[in-house]
Amino acid sequence: MGFEELKQRHSVVWGTGPYERISATIADLQDELVDRLEPAPGVRWLDVATGTGEVAKRAARAGAEVVGLDLAPALVETAKREAEAEGLDIRYDVGDAEALHYEDASFDVVSSSCGVMFAPDHAAVARELARVTRPGGRLGLACWRPEGTLGDMFRVMAAYAPPPPPGVGSPFDWGREDNVTALLGETFDLDFVSLDSVLVAPSAEDVWELFATCYGPTKTLADSLEEERREGLRRDFVELHARYEDEEGVRMPRAYLLTLGTRR
Ligand SMILES: C[S@@+](CC[C@H](N)C(=O)[O-])C[C@H]1O[C@@H](n2cnc3c(N)ncnc32)[C@H](O)[C@@H]1O
Repeated sequence: MGFEELKQRHSVVWGTGPYERISATIADLQDELVDRLEPAPGVRWLDVATGTGEVAKRAARAGAEVVGLDLAPALVETAKREAEAEGLDIRYDVGDAEALHYEDASFDVVSSSCGVMFAPDHAAVARELARVTRPGGRLGLACWRPEGTLGDMFRVMAAYAPPPPPGVGSPFDWGREDNVTALLGETFDLDFVSLDSVLVAPSAEDVWELFATCYGPTKTLADSLEEERREGLRRDFVELHARYEDEEGVRMPRAYLLTLGTRR
């Protein structure tokens, strides 16, 4: 399978289920990312792989002129509906982080929360982020660290999934300083911050129900498995989250890397 076919598949996978319920579980990460990038009236802001638009909405509430872009048409529809309901003036586009359809240097701020890490061609993403950010403009990327619990969750799922096509970069490489420096170090001055986003849920079983119905990659995988393997995936998924459960429920820290850049 080539990258184009893979992305075609991604554009459907991410849009299955009400992703906005998952996005709500990383509200702490989205707050942190937006605060660090200091939204203000008149700032031209691009949120790449915006999903249902949570980061875009935060920036727009502070007065920024926001464009949000995502590969999944179904998520862009939700983002538009939610922004309209709140009276926010945000432009949302369906598009690919590897080939942005914006002019060179057209944004003061470019952000992505757990977003561009999922595009298969990392070098193309890095090139595009640098191309659309104006000199002196700011970049903010929040990406899961490979050794963190989100990495554990993807390892649980990988045991039940076909292997990715050859040449596809691991999304979690965007959670490693050395790799991000190799990708962006020539075009941006970079700073890194290591943080945790905490997943809070009533129980490990609730986490499974949430992800198996609302998180595209988990839902698509679960729906593709015959009963016995689906039950195995459910059991392993619940077991992982139960390690962070006590009588008050689940509180699972999820390590992420915040990359902050200034365009040279
Ligand atoms: C985990 S979601 C994060 C969404 C959002 N940033 C948030 O904070 O909730 C990953 C998003 O990346 C998008 N995505 C994956 N590959 C992409 C690509 N090549 N170009 C643009 N968006 C992409 C998916 O459609 C999905 O909305």
